[in-house]
Amino acid sequence: MVEIAYWSGTGNTEAMAQEIAAAAKAAGADVESVLMEDTTPDAVAQHDVILLGCPAMGSEELEDSVVEPFFTAIAPKLSGKKVGLFGSYGWGTGEWIDTWKQRAQDAGAIVFGTAIVNETPDNSEECAALGKAAAAQ
Ligand SMILES: Cc1cc2nc3c(=O)[nH]c(=O)nc-3n(C[C@H](O)[C@H](O)[C@H](O)COP(=O)(O)O)c2cc1C
Repeated sequence: MVEIAYWSGTGNTEAMAQEIAAAAKAAGADVESVLMEDTTPDAVAQHDVILLGCPAMGSEELEDSVVEPFFTAIAPKLSGKKVGLFGSYGWGTGEWIDTWKQRAQDAGAIVFGTAIVNETPDNSEECAALGKAAAAQ
């Protein structure tokens, strides 16, 4: 089972989640995709293959009201888990995903992939590759 949990303000990261889920399903995986607002860190941490999604917010930061507390709570439970990270960005260079990857690795996660897309994805190769990689874990 591939568990996808994400936050999206204007729908771009949500569209990425849909493309990633479709690719993972096409590669034979069972997929559950949920909004972070609709689940809990404990529920997501039950899974061994976890994809977390958040756009670049703040100044190359995670969204601060939902995602930052969610990630802070799940991080201690990620040791040994296979984790992928994804999100949409605007004008930056992707620094937020690099910082996020480092935080996940510092928590002991095995980060098998990341996907970033400028604004709205359109059959993104990055999303397809991350979904396929998740299915192969
Ligand atoms: C408050 C706010 C802060 C943002 N900060 C950044 C940033 O630091 N770097 C960047 O590349 N894009 C930034 N963006 C642009 C968003 O990451 C971009 O519009 C993204 O597509 C939004 O994804 P979503 O539709 O899933 O919310 C910011 C957008 C908002 C609204």
